[in-house]
Amino acid sequence: MSRVSIHIKDKKIPVTSHLYGIFLEDINRAVDGGLYPEMIRNRTFEDSLLPDDCSTPDEGYALVTSSGWRDEFNHGEGLSRWVRQNETPYTPIPAWYQDSALMELDTVNTLGKNRKAALTVVFREEGKIYNTGFCGVPQQAGHSYKLSMFAKSEETTVLTICVKEGKTIYSQGQIKVDKNEYTFYETILIASGDTGAGVLEISCSKGGKVTFGYLSLMPLTTFKGHGLRIDIAEKLRDLKPSFFRFPGGCIVEGISPSTAMRFCNTVGPVWERPGQQLMWHYRASNGLGFHEYLQFCEDLEMEPVYVFNCGMTCQARNEVLMEGTELEDMIQDTLDAIEYAVGEENTHWGALRAKMGHPAPFRLNYVEIGNENHGAAYEERYLKCYKAIKERYPHIKCIGNTHLEQKGLPVDIVDEHYYNTAEYFAEQYRMFDSYDRKGPEIFLGEVAVVRGYVGQLYGALAEAAFFTGVERNQDIITMVSYAPLLENVNYQAWFPNLIRFNNLKSFGIPSYYVWKLFGNHRGEYVLGTKEEVSVIYRPVKGMASLLGKAGLVFRGATWNGKKTEISRELSGRVTAADEVYTILGPDEEQRKENLKVHNSNSEDIFVIFGEEKDTVGTFQIEIKADSDREIILGIFSSRMPKEVYVSDETNPPKEWNTGNVKPFLWKLSGGKSSLVEKEYPADVLLDEEKDVELIKDRFNTFSYTTDGKELVLCVNGMEIHRITLPNFPALHMVATDTEEEVILKMVNMSEEEDEVLLELDCEVEEKYKAYILEGKKEEVNSFTETENVCDREYLLSGASSRFLYKAPALSLSILRLVKRKAEREDRSNEAII
Ligand code: AHR
Repeated sequence: MSRVSIHIKDKKIPVTSHLYGIFLEDINRAVDGGLYPEMIRNRTFEDSLLPDDCSTPDEGYALVTSSGWRDEFNHGEGLSRWVRQNETPYTPIPAWYQDSALMELDTVNTLGKNRKAALTVVFREEGKIYNTGFCGVPQQAGHSYKLSMFAKSEETTVLTICVKEGKTIYSQGQIKVDKNEYTFYETILIASGDTGAGVLEISCSKGGKVTFGYLSLMPLTTFKGHGLRIDIAEKLRDLKPSFFRFPGGCIVEGISPSTAMRFCNTVGPVWERPGQQLMWHYRASNGLGFHEYLQFCEDLEMEPVYVFNCGMTCQARNEVLMEGTELEDMIQDTLDAIEYAVGEENTHWGALRAKMGHPAPFRLNYVEIGNENHGAAYEERYLKCYKAIKERYPHIKCIGNTHLEQKGLPVDIVDEHYYNTAEYFAEQYRMFDSYDRKGPEIFLGEVAVVRGYVGQLYGALAEAAFFTGVERNQDIITMVSYAPLLENVNYQAWFPNLIRFNNLKSFGIPSYYVWKLFGNHRGEYVLGTKEEVSVIYRPVKGMASLLGKAGLVFRGATWNGKKTEISRELSGRVTAADEVYTILGPDEEQRKENLKVHNSNSEDIFVIFGEEKDTVGTFQIEIKADSDREIILGIFSSRMPKEVYVSDETNPPKEWNTGNVKPFLWKLSGGKSSLVEKEYPADVLLDEEKDVELIKDRFNTFSYTTDGKELVLCVNGMEIHRITLPNFPALHMVATDTEEEVILKMVNMSEEEDEVLLELDCEVEEKYKAYILEGKKEEVNSFTETENVCDREYLLSGASSRFLYKAPALSLSILRLVKRKAEREDRSNEAII
């Protein structure tokens, strides 16, 4: 049972206006074939072409940038996993196939200077080509689809165009190509039935030769007529997002200068926009470009947050720094983008915006300088961009990727990203309480549980628990968004993603409903509360490990009194003589692995004892304390739950590697002992540093004992540290109010129902609405059960200034308690702090 008191007279802070938003990056083929409902894959025939500054060492299976970053390419199909899973037959021109026809790329006579290829087809009689779309070309009965294309032919050639699956034709039209210069043709196809697995077939009964410069098939009806797929756009709308961060993410950075995003490539007529290879393994058409993103912001009343490249490619993928004119051009590109958004019609880019159908300026009040960039090279480029923007557009708030204020640089907002386990988020609900109130605003631009319980209810509840802390700190945390947003299930590059879709349907993962509930139930002031709740301990497992410098000597390792052996050598090899063990540095194979997986040349050791499943007990070991040696014992040495994203699947890391085992580290050196947890953004000290005396050049005995709630560390029989293991409240909560209502958000992370005694300093109506998300820990949504886990609305009764609410096991409850009239009138006299 928990007890919560809520004080409407203790108004802590006003609710901020843009707390919950969305972040869209084109990952998992989220855009083309998704939110931007192009049905033809490879509509400009360029998917098999390598970016200018990349080469292929193995005839198209991988691409390698000039700085040596390697990515799967598969002749433009993307990841090998997609090819396997989707059973994609090989074709040199991705998604295009021929039958009694000959297709060839023409890289000279293309549609224009931005097009690198055209498709020339010689049809024999009854010859045909077809496009398989994004794992099928969908059709919905009664819906109309616009086929548009640029084509040319020396002789008048009649093409029959249809969408079919097997022998069933769903829609059909004809186009007569009668000019020998690229000419725009279009026809409307009306579907007579439903399929998600059709192909677009272009046939020519009499035979002939046609060159296609561009070919597109799009639904005629789109969200607000602005070109976006309706079901996905509506799902985004229902989140009530107040800002929109776009277009990335790592794609903004790119893996090479030519793959970095530039505004100028994303505006103008769609067939003229150069596409680009995205670092998430496929080529984008940029049909959803800067203009369309801003239009979407206007349609959903969201503040645009434009992220731009600041002159460097992705630092996690062999960065390239842009210098001189290349850097200046990049900065100019951003200034051009801003002019496009907010410039008057008589400016160069404002005029293009007007031509594209939006004469009035768009809103643009936030830009982000780079994505996940850091270090001196970033700081230099950041400042250049900042100055250039503020000089011309002082109203625009600049978002930095790091705490630049700590370097003495000006920054309005700092963007922090958090990807972690459910337990991490549930524990970190207080992390912002200690943030400097005089510092910049904080934007949590990318937040998601990505390890353990991914895409499941428990992960979603942990995010909700974290938000209760975010809401209590919204004087400083002013924006937060989930990442990534969208996933075409046939092209998963990352998991989880908030909304999953195929060609016909979409659904939200459980986290979607958490974001929806928090986004829709805001209130006006955060209220003071007091809670008495029980705690849940972080589940810990795995035995001890040894880390640090090579040459460490030990003996007599036991687990619960029985001899235990080293079970895994992640880095370093063990030799033994007379039950005395020495750990040597990593061998060639381990070095190679460390270099491949972590880009690290470290000579350090990392070896693990026993089994991962071991949880409670006592580990003991004797270690020789050479004079200068730092002794590092790892505690709870288990693998972190897997992240789905692996950049190069033909070359994956080992199941156990130095990056995915993150034990608590017990460090002893220079007469001091400390216990730390490796965490982003900084190591967490689990106990204060203690004095410890080791007997030099002798074996010293180290031991730890844990029951899953406490950890006791001893040296030579003397207790040095005793800590309570990390834990989190079983019930997290935050309360806000408006003039009429008290809004209570409660997250029950326990597997038991919690009878919560609620005490308010005001009278409320007996009847109240509750919005509840509940289920089993690992429950998910799917295409067959799209709303298996979703919020449900209830009308409950029994509320008063002191009443019991039964918070279901594993649930998020939003209670909207209606203030009695007298309480509302009182409000005008309240002082607001
Ligand atoms: O959201 C997926 C990726 O995670 C983003 O591209 C990047 O910003 C982060 O590393």
